[in-house]
Amino acid sequence: MNIILFGPPGSGKGTQAINICESLKVPHLSTGDMLREAVTSGSDVGKKAKEIMENGGLVSDEIVLSIVKERIALEDCVNGFVLDGFPRTINQAIGLDSLLEKNQKIEYVLRIKVDEESIIKRLIDRGRSDDKPEIIKNRFKSYNSLTQPLIPFYENREILFNINGMQDIEKVFDDIKKVIGI
Ligand code: AP5
Repeated sequence: MNIILFGPPGSGKGTQAINICESLKVPHLSTGDMLREAVTSGSDVGKKAKEIMENGGLVSDEIVLSIVKERIALEDCVNGFVLDGFPRTINQAIGLDSLLEKNQKIEYVLRIKVDEESIIKRLIDRGRSDDKPEIIKNRFKSYNSLTQPLIPFYENREILFNINGMQDIEKVFDDIKKVIGI
């Protein structure tokens, strides 16, 4: 099963991706994690991504598509995967379509809906280096302007499902399981 987890910063994409991947025994593909690893390793990609991530902007489609292309081609993705935080722009979604093999398709785009104001506290409490009020504001800005247009894109394909993310983690996962039938 191939799944996209979609939602604003702090909506619980990473948390639920871990739950789904454990149940389905498929890999968790988080572009945020991949980019943070690249920054830590000091690679060329990391050098390009660092400042953008520190400001809460989006890393270029070209860079993100190249890291996803490499990752998705690995053997462990043949039986499915969960994409967390990708695609984030229409260009990335179109790019993803062209990365998928003929026999592969995205079955579910799970949109975790949250009240943005109240999750700012979640993020500040977590305390990652980009969980600072000014940066969080920019991450929401990037989401609202560049990522939200993906909602109609996937609604038109009838694979977008809304999940109420304003509940306990276990309850959110229960709702996800009902949608994907596990
Ligand atoms: P990324 O790492 O993807 O960050 P994000 O989208 O801002 O998402 P978060 O990790 O903050 O939140 P989440 O929705 O995963 O929630 P989580 O489960 O962690 O991206 C970071 C940066 O990388 C971007 O800003 C961008 O620069 C770059 N980037 C990444 N992908 C890119 C792409 N495709 N294109 C371009 N640039 C890209 O939960 C958050 C907290 O809330 C945790 O503490 C968790 O324990 C808690 N929590 C979760 N669920 C609940 C719940 N139901 N109730 C209470 N607490 C909860």
